[in-house]
Amino acid sequence: MQTGLKGKHFLCEQDWTNEELETLMDVASALKMDNLLDTHKYDELLKNKSLFMLFFEESTRTRNAFECGITQLGGHGNYLTPKATQIDHGETPQDTIEVLSRMGHGIGVRNTLVGGHAYMQKLAKYSKIPIYNMQCDLWHPTQSIADLFTIKEKFHNELKGRKFVISWTSAGNYMRPLSMAQSLITLMPRFGMDVTLAVPNKDFELMPEAMETARKNAEFYGSKFEVCNDMDAACEGADVVYAKGWGPIMAVGDDEKTGVEMINANPGWCVDSRRMSLAKNTAIYMHCMPADRGIEVTDEVADSAQSVIYDEAENRMHTIKALMALTMGNVA
Ligand code: CP
Repeated sequence: MQTGLKGKHFLCEQDWTNEELETLMDVASALKMDNLLDTHKYDELLKNKSLFMLFFEESTRTRNAFECGITQLGGHGNYLTPKATQIDHGETPQDTIEVLSRMGHGIGVRNTLVGGHAYMQKLAKYSKIPIYNMQCDLWHPTQSIADLFTIKEKFHNELKGRKFVISWTSAGNYMRPLSMAQSLITLMPRFGMDVTLAVPNKDFELMPEAMETARKNAEFYGSKFEVCNDMDAACEGADVVYAKGWGPIMAVGDDEKTGVEMINANPGWCVDSRRMSLAKNTAIYMHCMPADRGIEVTDEVADSAQSVIYDEAENRMHTIKALMALTMGNVA
């Protein structure tokens, strides 16, 4: 199978064409089926390959999806943190990546601090092995592709004209990054979905570059992108209700206290059964997790038949395995 993807970085969804992402989805389907049937056809796909996983912040799903994924394909993952390397002592991205490139075959990085994406771009400039964005300040592409895969599964690949709602929630205990919402609004219009971004007011809109990309993608692919300041109105007729919190853009990396106060000034943005009843009766509820139960979503919704949160989490692993197989391994 010749895909031309070997060695390709995955820093942002926009770096990959729709055709390349469809190839990734096809490979993920095959790998998921292999797991379901326990056929072990791909156990040596990444034999003797090493993945470095550099985490500036904690993780449950991303770390374990990468680590289990590479193990299942015959390779292994090295867990790294700035403290456990010389990064905290000031080693430059160039020196770090030049060395790791000579030892392993891929490197994932999570760095959601302001400048996280720029750090990954510096690594990519010097890297001879593919770099995977395991979430930065701007994008969370390994989550959004798992979400796309999950939506395709749930709606049997019929995405055109589906109403996809990404709603802000009143999760105010700390400032969450914008990256998840930015990845969703830019990716979903490319696959025919009509995206509604629900926010209480302009303060919670996303970065202008992400909003502009979402608008352009909607125009190019014949879908829609709109902003709505009413969570009820946004949920009406939805096929997908995806809800999570993020900090106001003016306070990102700047003033945590102001940001939290601004979040707490907009209580009640939570997905409950009443709001789900405004959506289509075939609608699904999504969240990338970790979810703040009782604040972002009620237990009743999170544990309902409409909730696909655990499928999403599982699909992180299948799509990440496909990503690694295509870019590090012996598929291409
Ligand atoms: N959704 C997600 O990225 O989860 P983790 O923070 O647990 O990796």
